[in-house]
Parts: sequence; C-alpha cells; structure tokens
Amino acid sequence: MPVTSLKQLPFLPYTKNLTGQLIAAGCVRSAAVAEAFLQVPRHRFLSGFYPAAGSGRVQVTEDAPPELLELAYSDSTVTTHRLGDGVGHSSSSQPSVMAEMLELLELRPGLRVLEIGAGTGYNSALISRITQAPVVTVEATPQVAAEAAEAIAANGFDDLVRVVAGDGYLGWADGAPYDRVIVTCGIAGAAETWFEQLAPDGFILAPVAHGGLHPLMRIENGGDTPTARAISMADFITAGGPLYAGGRHTPESRNVALPTAERSVANHVPVDLPAVGGYDDLWFHLATRDTRTTKVHLPGSSSGTVSCGLVSEDDASAVLLQRGSTQLAGPASGRLAAEAETAVTEWLALGRPRLADRSCTLRRTGDETRPIWVPAQWTDGGRGAE
Ligand SMILES: C[S@@+](CC[C@H](N)C(=O)[O-])C[C@H]1O[C@@H](n2cnc3c(N)ncnc32)[C@H](O)[C@@H]1O
Repeated sequence: MPVTSLKQLPFLPYTKNLTGQLIAAGCVRSAAVAEAFLQVPRHRFLSGFYPAAGSGRVQVTEDAPPELLELAYSDSTVTTHRLGDGVGHSSSSQPSVMAEMLELLELRPGLRVLEIGAGTGYNSALISRITQAPVVTVEATPQVAAEAAEAIAANGFDDLVRVVAGDGYLGWADGAPYDRVIVTCGIAGAAETWFEQLAPDGFILAPVAHGGLHPLMRIENGGDTPTARAISMADFITAGGPLYAGGRHTPESRNVALPTAERSVANHVPVDLPAVGGYDDLWFHLATRDTRTTKVHLPGSSSGTVSCGLVSEDDASAVLLQRGSTQLAGPASGRLAAEAETAVTEWLALGRPRLADRSCTLRRTGDETRPIWVPAQWTDGGRGAE
C-alpha cells in the first residue's frame, strides 16, 4: 500500500490517535515504529472480532459505528476467534505490547523476520513496513491463517509478507536465514528449528512460560548453549503443539481462583509488598525458586488485579501474595505460606533483583523428534548476580 494514498484515507485520525498514545506511554520510541503504526490500519485486519466478553462476533468496516472503530484502535487486546467454550483462541495483541516488541526487535531496513503466530496478520504488516524486506508469519489454525492471508493481500502487503499455515515449531526453512524470530504466542521453550533458521547474529524474542505468565525473553544462540535474558512481564495465548510440550501450566492452572472454603488472611508473610515495590521482580524470583508459582486471583475480584501465589494441586491448597495481605486456602496453605516467606526473604537479601537483570542458559528437552530449549538455571541478578 503506497504511503501517499494513506493520507486520503479515513482511518488516519484513528491511527494517529493510537500512535500518539503509544508514544506518550513510552512503548513507541523510534520514528520507524511510529510510522508503521500510523500507516497500517489495524481495523482492516479484524475481519471479525468480539467487542466484549459474551458478545457476538462483529465486523469492523470504515462505515462501522465510531465506537467499534475506537475499540479497534484502543490499546486493548482484541479477541478475533474463540473456542467452543468461549475461551479466546486468537487475537490481535495489545498494541502497547506489540510496540514494545517491535522496539525490542531492533528492526531496520533489510532485516528478514520470521513471526510465529500470525493471528490477524497485523503485526507482520507492521514489521514489513519497517524492514521493507520479506516477512514470513506462521499460523497454526488454518481458518485464522486464511483470514490473515486475505487481509495481507487486500491491504497490499503480500509483496513482502507470506502467511504460512502450519505449526510454528517448524518455522519456515524456505525463507531462512532470518535475522529475527518473533513469537506472539506463549511457549514453554524455543524450537530447535528456529536456531537452525536463525542468522548467526540473529536473535529470538519470545514470551516464555514462567510463573504462570509468559514474560518476554531475548534468546540468543550462544554457540553450543543458547541463552535467554528476561525483559519484562507479559502474558500471551498459549501455543499449541510441541512448543508447549512439557509446559508446567495448563491454561486453567495459569490463573487459579483461590478456593473460598477455608480461606483466611495471614499476617505472618513478611513483606509489605507495596513498600518494597517490584512486584513483578518478586514474582519472577518466586518462580525461579518454586515451579508451583502461578497467577492467582480471588473469585469475583477485578481481572485488572494480577497477583502471584503458590498453588499445590496435590494438597488442594494455595497461597496468594497480594499487595497488603496474604490470603491462604486449603490444609497445606500454612506450609506454602512459610515457603513463600523464605523466597521473599531471600529476594530481599539479594537486593531485590529485577527480572530484567536475570539471565539463564537453556537446556534441550521435550519430544526427541521435536525438541525445545527451555530455561535451565536463572542467575540471581541484583547484588547476588553470578
Ligand atoms: C496473540 S495471537 C497473535 C497475534 C498476531 N501476531 C497479530 O498480529 O494479530 C497468537 C496466535 O498464535 C497462534 N498459535 C498458537 N500456537 C501456534 C503454533 N504452534 N504455531 C503457530 N501459531 C500458533 C494462535 O492460533 C494465535 O492466532
């Protein structure tokens, strides 16, 4: 789509508004990423979406009611496909997260990019606008891939963007080598194939399962042993297939409702969490020490409040570490709380290491024919960094 023609188009006020918000929030930091958000019309990649939980699927065209267009250009994740049970299966990710990832990719003209999880195709269009080079985007769900390919072609991005229907585990050898691999679904580990398809100085940016969420990690192929560096807390739709093989959490166990029965509030877990700050840093630390760490919420609480906790399914017990108080439920929750307390005390003693100071080596695991590389031993970061 030639840039000049965009100036005449009716969506420009919407893309301008979104880009302005992303700049103000500090997620868009470069002119190249700003230009891309300005020029690529998000709503044209939403052939259908669900404006709210429980609503039907709507289409958003240029003559749609303004509130629908505003929603398409708001800084929100937009669910485009649901499974039979109503759970989101594919979406257009939150623009601020997309912007952050595009900046982290350090894109420049000429770089070749492989994306895993095409979804709507919007992100691949943004990437191609920045790199002006071939982009391959792989999508596991055939219907989603077909819609993405249609939007890519209809908006004139098919000269550079190729949508491949298939399992992202395999990448796409025909387009290799890639300077960057960007993953837009939550994975347990990086596919071995991506390392094979990566240029020698390339890197992978991926949301990797940790503590019930998918923090962003930058993965590099450091010779024999790949390494990862944590960047920021995030969460994504969980990948299907070998990319999540052996993943500790199921979608359900990634957000556990604290059981109402036997619930109590404890005062003995030590820290006034708001006073120490760095809740995400503490969450990350807890998950490096205890694989039972996950996202926990109180039933009926606002979904905006995201808290971590320890959940022991075997003991039907959980502890939720909330800012201000600690909530317990189940017969073994006292022991869980004591274990959480030990990890929190250790985090304080280490100088409250930030998640962005953590790195690790990766180890090979999973199915022998489809191995993935998962985080092994995390450094402590902060004062206690190794
Ligand atoms: C958050 S959406 C992607 C958003 C997208 N990048 C965009 O611009 O709209 C995640 C997508 O990953 C896809 N996915 C999940 N597992 C996958 C796999 N193993 N291979 C390829 N795609 C996968 C899902 O079907 C879903 O469409």
